[in-house]
Amino acid sequence: MRKFLSRALRMIGKLDADQIRALVDELANENEILESSMHSMTAGVVVIDRNGVVSFANKAVKRIIPIAKSDPTDMHYTEAVLEEEIVKLIKISEENEETIHDREIAMDAPGGARIITCSILPLLIHEEISGSLLYIRDVTERKHSEARLRRAESLASLTTMTAGMAHEIKNPLGSIGIHIQLMQKALKREEGCAQEFIEKNLGIISEEVERLNSIVVDFLFAVRPMDVNMRDTCLSGLINESLELVKPELDEEGIELEISIDENIPMLQLDEKLIKQAVLNIIKNAMNAMPDGGHLSLSITREGDSAVLVIKDDGEGIEKENLDKIFEPYFTTKDFGSGLGLTLVYKIIKEHDGEIQLKSKVGVGTSFIIRLPVPQKEKHLISYNGENDEV
Ligand SMILES: Nc1ncnc2c1ncn2[C@@H]1O[C@H](COP(=O)(O)OP(=O)(O)O)[C@@H](O)[C@H]1O
Ligand SMILES: [Mg+2]
Repeated sequence: MRKFLSRALRMIGKLDADQIRALVDELANENEILESSMHSMTAGVVVIDRNGVVSFANKAVKRIIPIAKSDPTDMHYTEAVLEEEIVKLIKISEENEETIHDREIAMDAPGGARIITCSILPLLIHEEISGSLLYIRDVTERKHSEARLRRAESLASLTTMTAGMAHEIKNPLGSIGIHIQLMQKALKREEGCAQEFIEKNLGIISEEVERLNSIVVDFLFAVRPMDVNMRDTCLSGLINESLELVKPELDEEGIELEISIDENIPMLQLDEKLIKQAVLNIIKNAMNAMPDGGHLSLSITREGDSAVLVIKDDGEGIEKENLDKIFEPYFTTKDFGSGLGLTLVYKIIKEHDGEIQLKSKVGVGTSFIIRLPVPQKEKHLISYNGENDEV
């Protein structure tokens, strides 16, 4: 269109009245198509010239934000736009010549609060800023459905956890019930019922009560928001301290330990207690996976913006179909497992804005790979280490 127009303009002296009328007709048509496309958009578009005067506003604008007149063309935007937050944003964008993307604004509207997003883009004509374009969308419905989805997801995971806990609680409760019945029968049968028998049964009952208690404590720990205390922490120091705790047990189980630490890792923002617990949970699982001894290796390296901790064992490995399930609450393949160890690990790493991955092969072993973010101020120290352990 632009090329056609400049050619026509160059030739305008040679055109007769009919040809000029046809040209103007063509332009009017073109303009109408553009305008009606603008009016049929669901997003609001306002074009503001370099003097701050509205030169175009599509129909959607008045459905989304309050404006002074149904057609605010030729008004200054400060008078046309009645939503103060938007006026402020346009001013900021004008003064700093900056683009504003999808800024969310909550607005009081007659039908209840609405959430809109507002973008302000410079209007470039012949590569020169000659005003700005305001682009607004009503995202209230989208926001509501996102919130509904989030609620449904957390409800679903709570349901899975509660179902898991109910299942866990059933066994010890059943056992308690049976042992009480046995004692009642014995008491009925003989008056001075053997003390030893009652003591044994009470012992079992008290163990089961203990089990119930730890199920509930673990459950609460898994569902409650964590109390996270982030501090500048030396990851390698923390790992060494955790290993001190398990070293005697590793020796006893015939597990050889191999440690490799890149000493250039800067201080990280960590909750020392929680990260220690996560590391210990993973090491405990590794020990369970190597009942006849084996190798456990821990390494800390840097990769881009992350510190990478890899904990690797050469134990029994994890069946392929279980790989997706091991972080789920109550998933366990052990007779006396709680199935909450890795749920907690996952939660702890997420609280640190980290990532956790695993690689595992049955009969070969398992690696847990944890990435923790390096604080921004340390960025200049980062060197890339692209090596990645195969299982
Ligand atoms: N290093 C590992 N090697 C093999 N299997 C593992 C390893 N770590 C975790 N698993 C599997 O993941 C399951 C869940 O682990 P976890 O959440 O700690 O619960 P639990 O240890 O109580 O079973 C374990 O039962 C086991 O099957
Ligand atoms: Mg465990």
